Amino acid sequence: MTVHFKQDEPDNSNRLDGMKQGVLGKPMPRIEGLAKVTGTAPYAAEYPVENCAEGVLVTATITRGEVTSIDRKSVLSMPGVIAVIDDEKLCTRAAQGTANEAPMQGPAQVCYWGQPIALVVAKTFEQARDAAKHLNVEYRVEEGAPLDPGEVEPEEQEDETVHQGDLAHAMAEAAHSIDVTYTTKGHASAAMEPHAAIAEWDGHKLTVHASLQMLNYNITELADALDMEEDDVRLISRYVGGGFGSKLGISEEVVAAALAAKQVGRPVRVVQSRQQVFQTVMRRSETTQRLRLAADDNGKLVGFGHEALVSNLPGESFAEPVLQSSHFLYGGENRELMLNVARIHRMTAGSVRAPGEAVGMPALESAMDVLAEKVGIDPVELRLRNIPEDDPEEGLPFSSHKLAECLKQGAQAFGWENGPRKPRQRREGEWWIGIGMASAARVHNVSEAKARVTLKADGTALVETDMTDIGTGTYTILAQIAGEMLGLDPKRVLVELGDTRHPRGPGSGGSWGAASIGSAVYVACKAIREELATKIGTSEDKLELNEGRTPTGESLTDLLEGKDLAREGHYEPGDIEDDYTASGFGAFFAEVRVNHYTGETRVDRMLGAFGFGRVLNAKTARSQCIGGITWSIGLALTEALEFDPRDGHLVNCDLAEYHVPVHRDVPDLDVVLVEERDGAASPIQAKGIGELGMCGGAAAIANAIYNACGARLYDYPMTPDRVLAGMPD
Ligand code: MOS
Repeated sequence: MTVHFKQDEPDNSNRLDGMKQGVLGKPMPRIEGLAKVTGTAPYAAEYPVENCAEGVLVTATITRGEVTSIDRKSVLSMPGVIAVIDDEKLCTRAAQGTANEAPMQGPAQVCYWGQPIALVVAKTFEQARDAAKHLNVEYRVEEGAPLDPGEVEPEEQEDETVHQGDLAHAMAEAAHSIDVTYTTKGHASAAMEPHAAIAEWDGHKLTVHASLQMLNYNITELADALDMEEDDVRLISRYVGGGFGSKLGISEEVVAAALAAKQVGRPVRVVQSRQQVFQTVMRRSETTQRLRLAADDNGKLVGFGHEALVSNLPGESFAEPVLQSSHFLYGGENRELMLNVARIHRMTAGSVRAPGEAVGMPALESAMDVLAEKVGIDPVELRLRNIPEDDPEEGLPFSSHKLAECLKQGAQAFGWENGPRKPRQRREGEWWIGIGMASAARVHNVSEAKARVTLKADGTALVETDMTDIGTGTYTILAQIAGEMLGLDPKRVLVELGDTRHPRGPGSGGSWGAASIGSAVYVACKAIREELATKIGTSEDKLELNEGRTPTGESLTDLLEGKDLAREGHYEPGDIEDDYTASGFGAFFAEVRVNHYTGETRVDRMLGAFGFGRVLNAKTARSQCIGGITWSIGLALTEALEFDPRDGHLVNCDLAEYHVPVHRDVPDLDVVLVEERDGAASPIQAKGIGELGMCGGAAAIANAIYNACGARLYDYPMTPDRVLAGMPD
């Protein structure tokens, strides 16, 4: 039986507070943690499948054009080689998971260097790799593909454009105004587990073990790419070694494995190499951002301008949503916002770790630091003075808003000294030392979600959904929600995720996972509670369950009389989305040291204070924030995709040349959870967390670099050469 719940009104009943079991929000360790650290949790490529052949992708070595011939014969005679798959289905946009309207037709059209064009299948991986290297491919090359955003006339994304009042006039008249331009480089998602799939056919039924974030949607993509019915496809992703956006859609290894397994009549495994993951999976667009801020004597904004240029391939619908939080974070009645996309032939741009704010906030929040200095007030104070009452563009109320609390609690926990700041005040030997701060903001999203909860006759519970846990803690929080609602120790709740045989979840993306699937489980559990309440002649809201018993001591097993009780919860975001602006907020504080002679920056300590609704698990929530802050360090100091200006191919395509922060780069990070209840955000009063932790953090580091050594930089990452060049002497 399905119970449908569409949220049209805020729910401020705080139902989940003060329940008898008392497990929600507790810092429960991850259920699957032991399996993961002992290596017994099978990831996509590790499923034991008999008689499995190995496939290796072949990628294009031209930037734009068409594959005219593939010399299969030359490799089919090589040892162990079974087949060469160059089905055009492999090369469609659908196979790249970008879900664009028009899949490419005819012979494989190449639109970026590194695009997968074929798959070589052999008995062993080494044989397949060797043959893939020897596969002779001929192309018809189209010259003159634009490779740099500066080479083309960009397209305006009109739905992002805001013209309110007269910004130019405000800039000219205001007591203080700044006009600054920032750049950020492209980023790789850099998930630890490479993209991998094992495909197996049973007649016309296909099963694929893959590493994916959104099975609910990936099954549609895969069925589309293969011209199949969804009912004939089963996708399994029980454990995912990180996605960070790169596994939101299916990518070529999934389609290629399925096509190959069909053709060769046995299971086929395809694992992308680290280099291929870098060169074929989506990148985050580089950005150029102009910030215009105009403020009165007291630092109150009267004008706010944010214009951004991003890039993507021709025809792609995604544009890095740089301005997402700029629309509502600060006031200022004269506003001008604009997002432009340059169509260039670097690999596809898509969602990478907090698309939008991840790069928009570091620019905005560094500009705010420039403004604070100009106005001559404390940077925290500048933010506090500019928090709007309502959404400054839409006029909508905020669902809840904890920016001020985050700024204050964060400043206190960090030991922030109030007052206007001056750079180059502290030096220890070769090192300049300084502090900086920034606000955090990330829009809150929710998504339709279904989950089945079964209260078993033996007094345990089972939660089933195709939702994924990409390292975020989904298994654990769902056990906690079900345990809390049904009065069970979470150890008695079995959570089964990552299988499209289960009800469709929301997938893991955009930080909507926990609030969305948590709400579906909540809705299902509530229906079960209603049934139980009826049995003992009370109402659901009065039903107190604890350790499998009612207040009068009856056990759930007695109440169930040998029968399972199952309900499917179907949560749907309702009209409430149009009534409120919903966002997570926070504040970052950083202390850095900058070497006077080498320009090297080390982050000595960093703290983030975040408000994102109900905390479902204090440990996994904190871990999410720590992960986000860590990415902030990467964005601020080291991460940058470098493209060859001749053919647009990605040059630094491994974890040595593309440097994500490692332990030596990350000091002890501190997190303050500014707990709140947001009844308009979701039925369980929770908002998204995962991405909030990196939305603005890089600016706290940039501002601390300036405070330390006086180098005011406008280009991320702030590498030693840039810092040295920016220092005053
Ligand atoms: Mo996220 S970058 O929406 O997985």
